Amino acid sequence: MSRILSGIQPTGSFHLGNLLGAIQNWVKLQDEHEAFYSIVDLHALTTRPDADELRASTHALAVAVLASGVDPDKAVLFVQSAVPEHSELAWVFQCLTQLGDLNRMTQFKDKSEQMQGNTNAGLFTYPVLQAADIAIYRATHVPVGEDQVQHLELTREIIRRFSHIYGELFPEPKVIISKAPRVMGLDGKSKMSKSKNNYIGVFEEPDAIRKKLRGAVTDPQRVRRDDPGRPEVCNVWSLHQFFTSEEKRAEIHEGCTKATMGCVDCKGILADGICRVTEPIRERAAALESDPDRVRDVLKEGQKKASAEAQKTMELVRERSGLWRG
Ligand code: TYM
Repeated sequence: MSRILSGIQPTGSFHLGNLLGAIQNWVKLQDEHEAFYSIVDLHALTTRPDADELRASTHALAVAVLASGVDPDKAVLFVQSAVPEHSELAWVFQCLTQLGDLNRMTQFKDKSEQMQGNTNAGLFTYPVLQAADIAIYRATHVPVGEDQVQHLELTREIIRRFSHIYGELFPEPKVIISKAPRVMGLDGKSKMSKSKNNYIGVFEEPDAIRKKLRGAVTDPQRVRRDDPGRPEVCNVWSLHQFFTSEEKRAEIHEGCTKATMGCVDCKGILADGICRVTEPIRERAAALESDPDRVRDVLKEGQKKASAEAQKTMELVRERSGLWRG
């Protein structure tokens, strides 16, 4: 049977890129596969967050993931640091990973530029921990957005190296890319992300969403309302495909290219669509927020199930690699 593993960092902003690029796919896949979903707080440590803030973000993200439809009766939801075998396997994998491989990672290059003054070793070895997250459950499939594909290629490479040296133990995981592999940010230049501050948060109030959209970059050639627009280069148009009906989109497309509809109206329709999708998530989250014990219980139950699997795998790794077993 196929087994899914995926992770998301508790960075304090659950945005539309996360929802469309990853979590909606998690929800879909939990019906078809055995699924393990992790809130990866060890990864978030690379940005050196305040301790209370990290704990609060971890809880808030668990709420967000549950409110988005991940069902603890179908999938195992847990916090990465609650299962120490992730870090243990990561060490074994580090000893199999070449510096040259890590040097090629574009996310490391981007992040070390963004985090000048804190280019820590964790940032560099981050993809090895990610490989361990996956392999410790011997996952066969990993749903992610496009930005994670390079890390997944490295995961496969590390697993091949492990198999070559110690014999086959881990499947080479396949990537599952969602229908929204790269949701663009409001700046129209890069993918939506917290670090670029170009995002719309799932929990933002409708007024805040409308305000942010008003500032979103559109086709630069469309300076005045009666300039014809080019939807294919407009990131606001690219967002419509996730939130607006086909019929309405045809209307917008025609209005934009013939300059009969302005960007203000086009953005207003998008804001309505985003609010329609996010409002029920906000409501479910509010209900969960009022019952923090419920969320803690889900994560504890998840920890139990995840630990049982991770311990089994680590036992085999110890045997294969010659580590002390007592
Ligand atoms: P993270 O926390 O940055 O993002 C979580 C998920 O959201 C996807 N995503 C996007 N998809 C489309 N468009 C966007 N603009 C966008 N922004 C984010 C990401 O691709 C990801 O699927 N290293 C990972 C977390 C991780 C992980 C793992 C993932 C740790 N261990 C093991 C899979 C398997 C990360 O930082 O994702």
